[in-house]
Amino acid sequence: MERTSAIVLAAGHGTRMKSATTKVMHPLCGLPLVHFGVRAALDAGCEDVIVVVGHGGAEVTKYLAGAFRAEPVRTAVQEMQRGTGDAARVGVAAVPTDTSRVLILYGDVPLVRGEDLRAVAGPLDDQSTPALALATCLLEDPTGYGRILRKDGRIAEVREHRDLQSDDERAVREINAGIYAASVGVLREALASLSPNNAQGELYLTDVVAFASNAGERVAGVALREDVLAGINDRDQLAAVEARLHARIVRQWRLQGVTVRDGARIEAGVVLEPDAVVESGAVLRGTTRIARGAVVDVGCVLTNVSVGEGARIKPYSVATDSKIGPRAHVGPFAHLRAESDLAEDVHVGNFVETKKTTMGPGAKANHLAYLGDGVVGEGANIGAGTIFCNYDGAQKHTTTIEAGVFIGSDSQIVAPVTIGKGAYVATGTTVTRDVPPDALAIGRAVQENKEGYAPKLRARFAAAMARKGK
Ligand code: UD1
Ligand code: CA
Repeated sequence: MERTSAIVLAAGHGTRMKSATTKVMHPLCGLPLVHFGVRAALDAGCEDVIVVVGHGGAEVTKYLAGAFRAEPVRTAVQEMQRGTGDAARVGVAAVPTDTSRVLILYGDVPLVRGEDLRAVAGPLDDQSTPALALATCLLEDPTGYGRILRKDGRIAEVREHRDLQSDDERAVREINAGIYAASVGVLREALASLSPNNAQGELYLTDVVAFASNAGERVAGVALREDVLAGINDRDQLAAVEARLHARIVRQWRLQGVTVRDGARIEAGVVLEPDAVVESGAVLRGTTRIARGAVVDVGCVLTNVSVGEGARIKPYSVATDSKIGPRAHVGPFAHLRAESDLAEDVHVGNFVETKKTTMGPGAKANHLAYLGDGVVGEGANIGAGTIFCNYDGAQKHTTTIEAGVFIGSDSQIVAPVTIGKGAYVATGTTVTRDVPPDALAIGRAVQENKEGYAPKLRARFAAAMARKGK
């Protein structure tokens, strides 16, 4: 293929979103809107992608630089939003000199895929080489779209809805979908010819069509399916397009062997392996990865979490920025906060909270515990009600529990402290000093039993109640 550059127009604010956030930064299945057009252009095989930014440009540029770090994606700034034609001029000015072909798309049409873009560029590969091709679509209700006006069956121009001059023109159901492929020479000439001679006083990219056809060039129309062309101008359209995108994501994973129950939510950046199970009400966000055969049960919310093969995340567990090893069991009702790293076969049970804590293979904390800033060794067992007291009001400190340690229930471990390999901490102990390997640490008040004392107590209480009653 000839060297092709893509231009994504994304400089408008998107007034109808009624938001402080610029339109193309609104998330769609977890990724900003602008992501999708750029991805499609790369998937189509474009050698570079130039995103024309304006409103919120710094934020968009920052996002793209991070998300497409390894790919040829750049931004060009349109200082004033003078229309799509002006934006295209800004984009074309940034195109490398050895580019021979340009694809232009709008940043607010996220369902378009690489294959759709390739289809639009297809006619340019033809022997009869038209200099310009554009995506079209027949709509039941074309209101608001630019219409394709033909002469003797050939595309003669695109006229914006507001500029239509007759009922005949308004009745035209063939619309301009907003995706163009052109040879760069013709495009440069056509863009130079634009004038703001229209209802909005803007430079319309669509006027390149009339320019090319008047110059005797053949303009090819490529019909695309309506469901990939839906654009986003307001939040109702955002929700509708998100629902379609989500259905596409779920279908793709199901066809790859994943069980995704109705009612699960899976964002666009998530990766699932065959035989994984995602139950209803589970929400998988960000860069979450679920390995083979792992189960994410009802109501779990996982954000940037990797789950190993065969692990089970039981209902209503919440995990963020964490790793869960193969065959581990988590939950129900567990909370793994950032930087929790559970090795294989770890068990973390109900009402256990971990934060910045690693747990070695087979370590267990099955009930009601807070493990913050901890290092827990292989096979250690943390009893119910254990608390790692990691915060002294000023700084966080680390608790180190070595392999094979047993911590009895209701113990407080006051960090910084190390409990040596194989040591045993008696139930109810407050550990404030290091415990040597294989030692027993016990720190609690000595119990005293007073024989026959309970009836005396009961009599005393009864008397007190009787006095109160009078
Ligand atoms: C545009 C087309 C219309 C087509 C429709 C398809 C024009 C003149 N009209 O109309 O024929 O049917 O898309 O969805 O092109 N933008 C800039 N800089 C600007 C103006 C816009 O970057 O100065 C960007 C916007 O951020 C947006 C895109 O261009 O992503 C399209 O602009 P928009 O105003 O939404 O055009 P439509 O009215 O939808
Ligand atoms: Ca639009």
